[in-house]
Amino acid sequence: MVTYKNGVKVGPTGRPLKDFPVPAPLTSHGPARIISMSNQKGGVGKTTTSINLAAALAEYGRKVLAVDFDPQGALSAGLAIQTHDVPTIYDLMRGSVKDTKSAIQHSKVPNLDVIPANIDLSAAEVHLINEVAREQILAGVLRQVKNDYDVIFIDCQPSLGLLTVNALTAAHGVIIPLATEFFALRGVALLIETIDKVKERLNPAIELDAIIPTMYDPRTLHSQEVMERVVETFGDKVTDTVIGRTVKFPDASVAGVPITEFAPDHASAKAYRQLARELIERGVVA
Ligand SMILES: Nc1ncnc2c1ncn2[C@@H]1O[C@H](COP(=O)(O)OP(=O)(O)OP(=O)(O)O)[C@@H](O)[C@H]1O
Ligand SMILES: [Mg+2]
Repeated sequence: MVTYKNGVKVGPTGRPLKDFPVPAPLTSHGPARIISMSNQKGGVGKTTTSINLAAALAEYGRKVLAVDFDPQGALSAGLAIQTHDVPTIYDLMRGSVKDTKSAIQHSKVPNLDVIPANIDLSAAEVHLINEVAREQILAGVLRQVKNDYDVIFIDCQPSLGLLTVNALTAAHGVIIPLATEFFALRGVALLIETIDKVKERLNPAIELDAIIPTMYDPRTLHSQEVMERVVETFGDKVTDTVIGRTVKFPDASVAGVPITEFAPDHASAKAYRQLARELIERGVVA
């Protein structure tokens, strides 16, 4: 994914390639920066990025909590986490389980914990509609544990409904994965509008942390064209690190481990490690 422009090595974003240093280990942990992984378009790499970025940061010694906030439970499945007969994010949201810690499970990756979800969460949009301060419920749930982690990722479902608004209200930052394919930008304006509304009405501190291009295929002119448009639209918010398209991801999901463990030397494992280093360098995470 490297080309040369006027003798300078450039990456897929068209910007000069940088080297992101291996971060120094942290000497103390928390409080966490809470990051909502959001895009109402389905299948753009939200869950894959939540899992693998979380795992890469955990490898660098960061204490990470990944919250499965999608009734499909893909994040839980991708990390081989139990979702039945255990407390889930839905139990915490509706208050039938009060202690957030009791719903936390350790993944097989050291430093990476998970709060699971299952299909019960699909009832949340309906059940929570009459709650007082219904948009702030997740923020309250995470407040209990935020001092125990350096970063908390919320893996949103593909919708802009009440659950996503809860995620945006609980978050310090938003990361938007964008698949570099046709229609990638369609709908992003609506997402940005939603973030702006949440900022105005519920969470003045929220920031757009990064746009991460995913499923990039350097062999197609099309991927390159979409990439140009994305960089034109979002400038520096677009990370230098771009996640290429590869079948390794579905394979890793089936195995229930992050790509960083499934195929540690594969280009995409390296890409997620680089993304972790870039986000630390950018100050998005500690
Ligand atoms: N870089 C990639 N290259 C190829 N396939 C990928 C890549 N990233 C993710 N995938 C695959 O694409 C599918 C969708 O990815 P993922 O589940 O991460 O998207 P999502 O945005 O979370 O989807 P949803 O909106 O349904 O929650 C999965 O089968 C995943 O394994
Ligand atoms: Mg998903």
